[in-house]
Amino acid sequence: MYHKYDANYTMIITNSTEHMRELAAIAGKHKTLGFVPTMGALHQGHLSLVKTSMEQCDFTIVSIFVNPTQFNDPEDFKKYPRTRTADINLLHDAGANMLFIPSEKEIYPIPDTRVFDFGNMDKVMEGRCRPGHFNGVAQVVTRLFNIINPTVAFFGEKDFQQFAIIKQLVTQMELSMQLVSCPTVREYDGLAMSSRNSLLNDKQRALVPLIARTLFEAKDRVKYTDVSFLKTWVYNTIDANPELDIEYAEIVNASTLQPIDAWGDAEHVQLCVAVRVNTIRLIDNIRLK
Ligand code: PAJ
Repeated sequence: MYHKYDANYTMIITNSTEHMRELAAIAGKHKTLGFVPTMGALHQGHLSLVKTSMEQCDFTIVSIFVNPTQFNDPEDFKKYPRTRTADINLLHDAGANMLFIPSEKEIYPIPDTRVFDFGNMDKVMEGRCRPGHFNGVAQVVTRLFNIINPTVAFFGEKDFQQFAIIKQLVTQMELSMQLVSCPTVREYDGLAMSSRNSLLNDKQRALVPLIARTLFEAKDRVKYTDVSFLKTWVYNTIDANPELDIEYAEIVNASTLQPIDAWGDAEHVQLCVAVRVNTIRLIDNIRLK
C-alpha cells in the first residue's frame, strides 16, 4: 500500500462494482479502510474528509456517484455540477488510495425499490422539503457500504440531518462500521462550501454569506433570546433579502432532529436552515448549545 509521498504512489481508479468489491476485500484483510462517499464536484469540504480518513485509516477509498434516487427534482439532478477530471486530480494530490466512479448500471443493475423507515427523523427539514431524498441516500449508501465494507465512513456536519439518518441506518442494519462526522469547511466569508456554490452567479454569490452570518449571530443571541423568537429572527433576517427565499429555519434536538420549544429541552441543540437563491438550494447549520 503506497502513500502519497512514496515514489510509487498511485491512485487506483475503477468503475466496476466487482473490481471495487474485490480490491476492498483484499485491502481490508490487514488494513483499516476509510470510506468517503461523495457526488463529486469536489471542494475543500470533501477533501477535509479525505484528509481525516487518511489520518485515521490505513487505506482511503473515495466514491463519486451522482445518485439519481436521492434527487426529488430531475432538473436539480441534470444541472448538478460534474467535474470529473478536476476531481481525479484533487484526489490524487490529496493522496487517496482508491477512487470508485461507478455508472448508474453498476450501482442499480435493477431498480432499487427498498423503502426505509426513519420514524420522524426524515419527516422534518430536508425530508419534508425533499420527499424521498433520504430514502434515496439510504439506498445508495447501503449499496456502497455493502460493496466496500469500510472500517470507518466519513461524512460532513454540513449535511447535519443526513449524518443523523445514516447513523440511524447503521444502527438499524446492525452494521459494525464506525461513522465519523467532520466539521463544516467554510469559505473566507463564512459561506459553507458546497458543490452547488459553483452554480451561483456573482450577484448571488455576494448575497449568500448572509446565511452563515445569520447563523453565527443566532448563536450569540442564544443567551438572551427564547427559542421561538430566535427562530423567527433567523427566518426574517434571511427572508428580508428579496433574492433569498428561506425554506425553513429549525431549532432541533440534535439526536432526534425534532424541534424544541425551550433551551432546556435538549443537551445538544442545532439550528438548521435551507435557503433558495432562485433555483439553487443551499443548506447550512450551526450548533447553538
Ligand atoms: P456530497 O454532497 O458530495 O457530499 C459528500 C460528503 O461531503 C458529505 O458527507 C457532506 O456532508 C460532505 N461535505 C459537503 N460539503 C462540506 C463542507 N463544506 N464541509 C465538510 N463536509 C462537507 O452528501 C452527499 O454527497 C450524498 O448525499 C452522499 C452521502 C454521497 C450519498 O449520495
